[in-house]
Amino acid sequence: MSATLYQHQREHIASLQRAYHECMAAHQLDSLAIYSGHARNHFADDHATSFQSYGHFIHWVGMSDIQHSWLVIQPNQRPQLYLYAPADFWHLPVQLPEEPWVAEFDIHLCSNKITPPLTGHAAIIGDVAALESAPQLAKSATLQPETLIRELDELRMVKTAYEIACLREANRLAIAGHQAANAAFIGASSELDIQLAYLGASRQRESEVPYQNIIGLNEHAGVLHYQRYDLMPPKHRYSLLVDAGRRFRGYCADITRTYAGPDAPSEFGDLVTAMHGLKDSLIAHIAPGVDFIALHEQMHQGLAEILISHGLYDGSAESAVETGVTRAFCPHGLGHSLGIQVHDVAGLRQPDGTLSPAPKSHPALRLTRTLQPGMVVTIEPGLYFIPMLLAPLRNKALPINWSLIDALTVCGGIRVEDNILVTDSGAQNLTQ
Ligand code: GLY
Ligand code: MN
Ligand code: MN
Repeated sequence: MSATLYQHQREHIASLQRAYHECMAAHQLDSLAIYSGHARNHFADDHATSFQSYGHFIHWVGMSDIQHSWLVIQPNQRPQLYLYAPADFWHLPVQLPEEPWVAEFDIHLCSNKITPPLTGHAAIIGDVAALESAPQLAKSATLQPETLIRELDELRMVKTAYEIACLREANRLAIAGHQAANAAFIGASSELDIQLAYLGASRQRESEVPYQNIIGLNEHAGVLHYQRYDLMPPKHRYSLLVDAGRRFRGYCADITRTYAGPDAPSEFGDLVTAMHGLKDSLIAHIAPGVDFIALHEQMHQGLAEILISHGLYDGSAESAVETGVTRAFCPHGLGHSLGIQVHDVAGLRQPDGTLSPAPKSHPALRLTRTLQPGMVVTIEPGLYFIPMLLAPLRNKALPINWSLIDALTVCGGIRVEDNILVTDSGAQNLTQ
């Protein structure tokens, strides 16, 4: 661990101590217990689903796979971590990392699943509904106090220097995966082999990825959350879309790249280049005070201009946006907040916690905030040929070049996605 990262982590923990204590004082709380969560078994089985610890637990502990454990925060005391560590010859015991937070906490290794010791006015947050002891816990503490959770969510919106360093490192590791995925595509690999190349180069197993990698060849690039991996390579190679990440100490990278294959119409490669240009021009507009909804609308304006300049639409940019043409080519939002969760908390709230839902015309947008320094967001414009979304436009008298769209449909679509830090004066791209 570098000296800087070491120091940043100590400062991160100190800033959490301050912020939690302030928040607890406002709620007149003497203790706050954060439950790590635990994996559930498949129905009628003894195998569990994949798992990630509760975000507010990871915020302190930085490990995303801790289960059946509790963190207790009390004003003017060291954090108390009750770490589930049973004597178990079936599994490897939990191993704590050599990181400064370990020295800042009192760590109690628990051979049994415990209920946390709480004093005074107490609250508990996390997935406690999954615990048999939930009714018992409710007698001594407030479970899931909503206002408090909103305030803790808000703390995660603006990242500390330590969190930014972790997100940068997650990006660095993910980029190695993307390079290997591209090389596998050039080598005519199948979706499964591209996925394996990605996992190998980014040094992670599939159960550790922050979200299921999307590895789509040809038309599969147009399935927004494509969830399978074909075992055999296709006969023709038109395109590849890879949306894949990596965690580092709990913090997520979320990166997408699209490549034109040797069998693609030449217009597809030009469109991929244009989409990179659109992404970069949107990133150039990022700065404190920028309204993310306005930036999302700017993406639609840019998409309209690309449709026109590449011969897909023969009208004005304004009409392409107004008639919903650009929305049929890109049904998702421009991006979202990124952190311990890939779609991180508090994106659809104002800083004071009040709801700030996506506009009706853009229901899939996951971030409606005004940007401020320390936020980390994704910028991920897309342009897809999704028959289900384009079909309703065919009956309308719109100046759309259907023959070109039909030729491009085998390529599925394009998405390019980078992770961006909002700085005091503008933005920094963590993905480069
Ligand atoms: N990978 C999920 C997303 O880009 O939002
Ligand atoms: Mn993504
Ligand atoms: Mn994303």
